[in-house]
Amino acid sequence: MGVDYVPDAIAAAQRQAPEGVTYVVGDVTDLSASNLGTFDFFLDVGCFQGFDAAQRLAEGRGVSALANPGATLLMLEFGPTRMRRLVGGVSQAEVQDAFPGWELVDVTPAETAGLGWPMNRTAPQWFRLRKV
Ligand SMILES: C[S@@+](CC[C@H](N)C(=O)[O-])C[C@H]1O[C@@H](n2cnc3c(N)ncnc32)[C@H](O)[C@@H]1O
Repeated sequence: MGVDYVPDAIAAAQRQAPEGVTYVVGDVTDLSASNLGTFDFFLDVGCFQGFDAAQRLAEGRGVSALANPGATLLMLEFGPTRMRRLVGGVSQAEVQDAFPGWELVDVTPAETAGLGWPMNRTAPQWFRLRKV
């Protein structure tokens, strides 16, 4: 299941959805309102990095509420650079603060080849967390 709060993005994704994949318009800072079910795996590529502290905590609460025990959360996010206001970015501590019921299993620098400036200067990281 894919979630985005931009209806046009969801409509475009639905047009090319693989068998069994659904896309819904929803706000990841208010997931409880969406009645999505529960999940063993979550992927956030570049969404969390754009949020302020309250929004990050809200995403954390929503994802945690939908997570089965032992669920995995994989996140790819820019680091907190001087360009943060422009392109977003989060620190490892900010990830951990937003997901208190999760164990941070791994942090790995992400590939920046193919990213233009200034994104290729944001030290993106893959964060892997496990719901305790
Ligand atoms: C940087 S883009 C990344 C998109 C995609 N993950 C990718 O890798 O191409 C961030 C996405 O998060 C979506 N987004 C931002 N805030 C959101 C929210 N509160 N709820 C749901 N989606 C949101 C935006 O509409 C946008 O599609």
